[in-house]
Amino acid sequence: MNIILLGPPGAGKGTQASRLVAERGMVQLSTGDMLRAAKDAGTPVGLQVRDIMARGELVSDAIVSALIGERLDSLKEEAGGDTGPGVIFDGFPRTAAQAEALDLLLAERGQQLDHVVELTVDEAALTERIVGRYTCAKCGEGYHDRFKQPAEAGVCDVCGSTEFKRRPDDTAETIATRMAIYRGETAPILPFYDARGLVAQVDGMAEIGQVTQAIESILDR
Ligand code: AP5
Repeated sequence: MNIILLGPPGAGKGTQASRLVAERGMVQLSTGDMLRAAKDAGTPVGLQVRDIMARGELVSDAIVSALIGERLDSLKEEAGGDTGPGVIFDGFPRTAAQAEALDLLLAERGQQLDHVVELTVDEAALTERIVGRYTCAKCGEGYHDRFKQPAEAGVCDVCGSTEFKRRPDDTAETIATRMAIYRGETAPILPFYDARGLVAQVDGMAEIGQVTQAIESILDR
């Protein structure tokens, strides 16, 4: 099963994707995570995208589509040709060109899309979600200044590390750019999928566990 989680920055795509990975053994393909890894590793792609990401703008369609194609190939290779429980596309596609590229990438591998889950959210609440979030620098566990603090202040619940980090693009100014790009470039791809009967909406403002349950019920239909 191949699904897309679609929604503006801070809608909860990453949060829900990791829960589906834990509960269903699906594979999360997050272009944001792939690009951040390339940036941290200082690869040529990472150097090329660093400033674009810091401004909250979109990286080129060609770069992200190539990253997804490579990951789909390596997943298939690792699984000996078996596609396994499926893939969650998190943060991809984000433009009409990427949506077309994804169709092609899947078709070339004998696969197809099964669901597009749109997380509907109140944009006003998203800035608070994003500026308050941080992760453990060692294991990547996510926290939030207000919504999810470690049980012991300054110590990661999962691995005990005392080092945490914040994303450089999680500032109020950059969020405004990212939201505008979502409205102008990403939301317009929804009708493309809706015409194929693939879109289901989930209330992304509900409690995290309830959002997961709503997504699971769509996948179990
Ligand atoms: P990316 O990493 O994809 O960022 P994004 O889309 O802006 O999404 P976020 O990661 O900010 O939010 P999310 O929806 O995953 O929310 P989360 O679960 O963390 O992209 C970053 C950049 O990379 C882009 O700006 C661009 O430059 C580049 N890029 C990436 N993909 C690209 C592509 N395809 N094409 C071109 N460029 C690309 O949740 C946020 C917070 O809210 C967390 O603290 C969480 O705990 C909390 N939370 C989540 N759900 C709930 C809930 N239901 N209730 C209360 N709190 C909640």
